[in-house]
Parts: sequence; structure tokens; C-alpha cells
Amino acid sequence: MSRARRSCSIDSRATGYYHASMGMLLFVAIIVFGCQARAQAPAADTDSKTTKLAGNSQSGKQLFSKYGCYECHGHQAEGTSAVGPRLAPNPIPLPVFIKYIRKPSGEMPPYTAKVISDVELGDIYTFLQSLPKPPDANSIPALK
Ligand code: HEC
Repeated sequence: MSRARRSCSIDSRATGYYHASMGMLLFVAIIVFGCQARAQAPAADTDSKTTKLAGNSQSGKQLFSKYGCYECHGHQAEGTSAVGPRLAPNPIPLPVFIKYIRKPSGEMPPYTAKVISDVELGDIYTFLQSLPKPPDANSIPALK
């Protein structure tokens, strides 16, 4: 009699855990789907504004961060004195750009097509093209 009651209480505890983990799964699913929906919204928005450019500069900016290009080339691709050269404004032609990233000749690590697709590189390229030119030194009073 008492044994039966004990096993019953274990059962209900197990069911409790089951419900808790289902709740957790739902929670994670909501977060994941929520993030995807948010990530897609701005991309669609910029597409309509930058129809002239082949890639998506907003996503290119994120990819430039995600793949760590900024670590060596700077957040604005202005180059860092220690590691990477300036990439923008006026980046090298796109085919040369892609070829170089797949097979760099110096210090830079290679990024294969498995790591970054051509489309993603196109987005990064569009981001680089979109960066403003620095002001002329003569237009800065402190430098006159
Ligand atoms: C670990 C540092 C490092 C990272 C990370 C890095 N680069 Fe480089 N990159 C370099 C260096 C250094 C050079 C100069 C040539 C060389 O040594 O390969 C270079 C050269 C380049 C060039 C050729 C520039 C020219 O005018 O010839 C391009 C284009 C380029 N990088 C793009 C990128 C992109 C895009 C990313 C991110 C996907 C990236 N790099 C990530 C260090 C880096």
C-alpha cells in the first residue's frame, strides 16, 4: 500500500519535470523565431532603399563584424596601423576582392566559400562602397 503511494508520487514528480522541459523548449522556440523575424525586417527595409547596389550594405556591415574583418581592418575599413590595410572608400574591384579573400597572399587568413558565400562577400563589398570618403584635410580648421 505505502509502496504504491510512493511510486505514484515519483510519477507525478517526473511528469512535473516533463512539463517544465516542454515549457523551456517553447520558450527557446519563441526566442529563436522572434530573433529571426527581427533580423529579417531591417534587411527587407534597406533593399528597397539601395536598389542601385548589388549587395545589401546593412547586412554587409553586420558580416564585416561577424567575420572579424574589423579586427584587422577597422570598423570603418579605415585600416589599422598594426595589422590590416585600408579597404574603403574606393575598394578594389569586386572580382579581385573576392579572389583575394579566398586566397590571400600575405598575413591575412583565407576565407573559403564554405565560410563566407559570394553573396555575403557582395554584401560586405556594398558596405565598403557605401562608406563615406574622409573630409579633405584643408576643410579641417585645426589642420590649417
Ligand atoms: C587577422 C587579420 C585580418 C582579418 C581578420 C582580415 N584581414 Fe583582410 N587583410 C589583412 C592583411 C594583413 C592584409 C594585407 C595583405 C596580407 O597580408 O594578406 C589584408 C588584405 C585584405 C584585402 C586586400 C586589400 C588590397 O587592397 O589589396 C582585402 C580585400 C581584405 N583584406 C578584406 C578582408 C575582409 C572582407 C575580411 C573579413 C571577411 C578580412 N579582410 C579579414 C588582415 C586581415
